[in-house]
Amino acid sequence: MAILWHREEKEFHLHNDYLSYIITLLPDDSPALAYIGRPLSPEGRYGRLTLFEDRALSTHQPGLPPSFCLEYVPREYPTYGRGDFRFPALELVSENGMPLVVDLQYRAHRIYNGKPCLDELPATYCESDAEAESLTLVLEDRAHQIEVHLHYTLFAEHPIVARRVSIHNSGSKPFYLKRALSAVLDLDSADWDMLHFPGAWGRERHLVCKLLVPGLQSIGSSRGSSSAQHNPSAIFARPNTSETSGEAIGALLVYSGNFSIDAEVGSHGTTRLGLGINPFGFSWKLKSAETFETPEALFVYTAQGFGDMTHHIHRLLSRRLSRGQWRDRERPILINNWEATYFHFDEHKLLSIAHSAKDLGAELFVLDDGWFGRRNDDTSSLGDWMVNREKLPEGLESLARKITDLGLSFGLWIEPEMVSPDSDLYRKHPDWAIGSPLEKRTLGRNQLVLDMSRSEVVDYLFDTISGILSSAPISYIKWDMNRHITEPVSAGLPPDEQGEFSHRYILGVYRLYRRLTQAFPHILFESCSAGGNRFDAGMLAFAPQAWTSDDSDAIERLKIQWGTSFFYPPSAMGAHVSAVPNHQVGRITPLWTRAFVAFFGAFGYELDPEKLTEAEKAEVREQIAFYKQWRGLFQFGDFYRLEGGRSGDGSGNCVAWMSVSEDRRRAAVLVVQVLAQPNPGFSRLPLRGLDLSFNYQVRVRPAVPVKNEAALRYNEGLRRGDELAYVGLLLGGDGWNGVSRGDFASWLFTLEAY
Ligand code: DGJ
Repeated sequence: MAILWHREEKEFHLHNDYLSYIITLLPDDSPALAYIGRPLSPEGRYGRLTLFEDRALSTHQPGLPPSFCLEYVPREYPTYGRGDFRFPALELVSENGMPLVVDLQYRAHRIYNGKPCLDELPATYCESDAEAESLTLVLEDRAHQIEVHLHYTLFAEHPIVARRVSIHNSGSKPFYLKRALSAVLDLDSADWDMLHFPGAWGRERHLVCKLLVPGLQSIGSSRGSSSAQHNPSAIFARPNTSETSGEAIGALLVYSGNFSIDAEVGSHGTTRLGLGINPFGFSWKLKSAETFETPEALFVYTAQGFGDMTHHIHRLLSRRLSRGQWRDRERPILINNWEATYFHFDEHKLLSIAHSAKDLGAELFVLDDGWFGRRNDDTSSLGDWMVNREKLPEGLESLARKITDLGLSFGLWIEPEMVSPDSDLYRKHPDWAIGSPLEKRTLGRNQLVLDMSRSEVVDYLFDTISGILSSAPISYIKWDMNRHITEPVSAGLPPDEQGEFSHRYILGVYRLYRRLTQAFPHILFESCSAGGNRFDAGMLAFAPQAWTSDDSDAIERLKIQWGTSFFYPPSAMGAHVSAVPNHQVGRITPLWTRAFVAFFGAFGYELDPEKLTEAEKAEVREQIAFYKQWRGLFQFGDFYRLEGGRSGDGSGNCVAWMSVSEDRRRAAVLVVQVLAQPNPGFSRLPLRGLDLSFNYQVRVRPAVPVKNEAALRYNEGLRRGDELAYVGLLLGGDGWNGVSRGDFASWLFTLEAY
């Protein structure tokens, strides 16, 4: 790995075994992307790859050749106003509202080992300087006294470039940022598909793929959180890219607030990608000598398909974004009482759930919503974080002790960012809620949002939540956030700084997370937002796992976990077995199918174990015992999407994926057949990631066994890796006759090198 500076050619070459990222300085001394792709020789010079040409209707700068026209040039941090009519990365207005035409010219640079830490924003990091090399390009607009630092880090072991920007006001007067993207990537082709992950509550991150067309295509959030509607991630792939071959560029923002990801196909076959804080509603007053830091953007390049992209980003996020004691530790198997009781429980009920769960093998009991204030439904008490003595007369500590005495750890649900209008906190501090107490405030789930942009609110929450965490043996926290933000203004900000609110809100959330995770390093935090409404890389920096979706139906989870898996590792995905009929869709699926799907994540149960039959309890006992032996593989193995249906989005009738351990000695393969088919044909499922020369002992567990099981007869036994990779497992056949097996059948194959 190296970052080279070729002084004569004014060229930077970020280079490792997987990738070259080449920046050249243009005739106006602004930086341009000459190349991103497979590694090119570090000996070469590549400035000529930056295309520009005089075209009809194009504009050019006095003193520079007419061929140098900004309209088509690939620019690293473009501004508007000098002939580049695509969307800019940076937009500024002066103190009195005058738009500024900014020329960012190279002034200096610094190349250094390692990667610096950020104070306020989450970001990837290095544990030793040998893991990465960084470049900072210092750009300047002398006339307006603005300095812009473009920061790049190349990781030695990954085709990943991290980018972010610092914008500094070196003048004496303030100006306003209207847009300050984290990165722009100008590609010299329009031949890309855009894959992204839209959704809604209960159906988060469903993969869609669309052809880029001329003009601007954009996704984003203006909801105060990254949202279930769009995820701050997208892939730009060549139309023929598959899981195993072809070029793709993954783009991921390490951010949990309002974001946008834009792609603009220009009139001459170029594509501009941009990602960062959503410019809609954003403005930031940058006073003299102040610096604004953008969130970090990650670009992953692959020439070997989506699978390769996934493996690199999974490793980086799980090992060098998540942090703390739980980063590399196997996660406990939990039982959560939410769907078992909702708000209606008492200590006796909780203890009997915990007792049964312990008997089945669970390791962590999580007490969900409803334990505090007068919270018997969702109309009151958020903000009053005192135990509800009617439900828990002996208090939280006593309950936690009784649970830990059973041999389970104890976990607790909180929703610190919220306040109910019917709460003591709100009665005392009505001005702490977002919006004005004198004007209409929009409710969501009957609740208001606390103004996390105000330091006194964050301080109060830190003290209150710390008090709870110190009061009882708590080893896990589920941090929920159950509504979107409306009336996004703050009583703590002057009128001309109100555009800062949404970003300041999320900085406040990060501050509280940072302080709590530092003060209580032994606690495993799981982020949650009405399911997966804030499932993003920003959150993963503090909470190494997140509740993937409130929808725990095994069949719906196929699409959700499929889409989520493109960027986010299985260790980050909370995945639970819940009761049937499923509470979200009413579907009845086999208990083993529910477990098989949930195995590929941070596993747990969300049901009343006391309502299980003896036979079901025996199955759950077996599932938990099995997961304990295999969870390292499920949580930290390399994840391969094998079969997702015709549109490749996990919505097919047969969906299959697998995990392989880093040493390739163990693997587990899931096959789900959604609807039964009479007399199905045979098919083969080639496996991936195995060592071709190893002999693997293959075993199969059908969720719903039938007589004369073909899966057992044809697949079980000792099989070489090459046969499994080139021929594969047999699906279909006599015993696979869905008529006798029913809908929602599944099979879990385990492979162990012999
Ligand atoms: C939404 C979460 O996603 C659920 O799991 C549960 O914790 C409820 N909130 C509780 O209000």
